[in-house]
Amino acid sequence: MSETPASIPRSIPLRNDLVGEVPYGAPQLDVPVCLNVNENPYPPVPEVIDSIVERVRAAASGLNRYPDREHMELRAQLAHYLGKESEAELAAEQVWAANGSNEIMLQLFQAFGGPGRTALGFAPTYSMYPEYARDTFTEWKTVKRNADFTLDTRKALDAIRAIKPAIVLITSPNNPTGTPLDQEQAQEILDECRTVSVAGADPTAHPIVVIDEAYIEFRNPGVASLAPLIAHNDHLAVSRTLSKAFAYAGARVGYVAASTAIIDSLRIVRMPYHLSAITQAAAMAALDHADLQLAQVSHLRETRNETAQWLERQTYKGEPLKVAESQSNFLLFGGVFDDREAIFQGLLDRGILIRVVGPQGWLRVCMGTDDEMTAFRTGLSEVLREVESR
Ligand SMILES: Cc1ncc(COP(=O)(O)O)c(C=O)c1O
Repeated sequence: MSETPASIPRSIPLRNDLVGEVPYGAPQLDVPVCLNVNENPYPPVPEVIDSIVERVRAAASGLNRYPDREHMELRAQLAHYLGKESEAELAAEQVWAANGSNEIMLQLFQAFGGPGRTALGFAPTYSMYPEYARDTFTEWKTVKRNADFTLDTRKALDAIRAIKPAIVLITSPNNPTGTPLDQEQAQEILDECRTVSVAGADPTAHPIVVIDEAYIEFRNPGVASLAPLIAHNDHLAVSRTLSKAFAYAGARVGYVAASTAIIDSLRIVRMPYHLSAITQAAAMAALDHADLQLAQVSHLRETRNETAQWLERQTYKGEPLKVAESQSNFLLFGGVFDDREAIFQGLLDRGILIRVVGPQGWLRVCMGTDDEMTAFRTGLSEVLREVESR
C-alpha cells in the first residue's frame, strides 16, 4: 500500500480501504497545447452560447426553488437527440441525466453494485471504473482485450459465466484505445447475460450490460451506436455525455438511455435535486443547436484519420509506430516505445501535453485544432529524431 497523503493524518478516520489512496485526475498543467484529456478543442458555437445566456437567465429567476428533480424537459430533448443521432426509439422516461457521465456511472454502480457484487470490464479501459467500484464496495474484475484491443467474445462469455457479474461494462469506442464494439458482438453478450445469474443477487436476476459511449459521435459512417438495441434488451444501459462531441466538458452533463426498470433503479440512488436548474438549462441550450454544435465533429474525425496515417509513417529506433484503430477523438500510438516517459517528456518540454496511459510502450494523443496538431507533429518528429541520434 502506498503512503497516506501527508495532508491526511491517521487521527482523521478515513475509511480503512481509502488509506493511501490519492484523488484521480490527469495533470492540469498550464501548457500551450493540451491534448491529454480527450476534450473537444473548439468552444461551443455562438448560437449555443446565446442560448445558454437566455436559458440560464430564465432559470435564474426561479433559483429560490429546487429544480425539477425529474428534469423531464431535458430528458425529452435527449430522447429526441438519440432518435436522430443513433436511430434509437426512446421515451423521455428511458433517459436520465446527471453531472457528467462520471456521475451516471457512479449511480449505476450504486444501484447495481455493492458488497458481494462484481463488475466486469475489458482491459485496457477507462481508469475511473475501478474507482466507482471501490467507492461502492463492488469488486472490479477485468478480462484482457485482444492484441488489437478488440473483445474476444469467447473469453468475455466465459468470464460472464464464471464471475456472474452484476454489471458487464464495455466502453465503445474504448478509452484509451478507440476500439468500437459492433452490434452483433454486443447482442451475443446481451444474450448470454439473459442466461446467467448474478452473484449476491436474487436467483432470478441477470447481469446488466452497460455500454459507455462517451465518444460515439466521433465514429465513422457505417459504425453503429448500440443504443437501438435497448428496444429489445431491458438489461442494456447506454451511457453518453455532452463533454466530448458537444464541447461541453465544463458544463458537466452526462446521460444514460435504458429500460425504465434501469432508469427507475437510478432514481433510487440519486441525490435529491442532483442536477441544478442551471445545468439543466445549459444542457438544453446545447441540444437546441445540436446540429451546429456537432459541426466540428466531422473535422475532428478527418483530423483523427489523417493523424493516424501520419503516425503510421513515423519510426522509433527503426520500427514503424503502431496506431490502434480508433473511432474516437484520440489515438493510442507507439506500441514500440521502450521509454514512453521520455517521449512524453520531450513533447512536454515543447509545450505539448499528451497522456501516458494504456499498455506499456503506448501513448495517447487527443485531437486538437489544426494549429495544435501541427505543433504535435513538429514536436513528435523532433523528439523521435532526438532518440534516433542518441
Ligand atoms: C470512457 C469515458 N467515459 C466517461 C468519461 C467521463 O465523461 P464526463 O465528462 O461525461 O464525466 C470519460 C472522460 O474522459 C471517458 O473517457
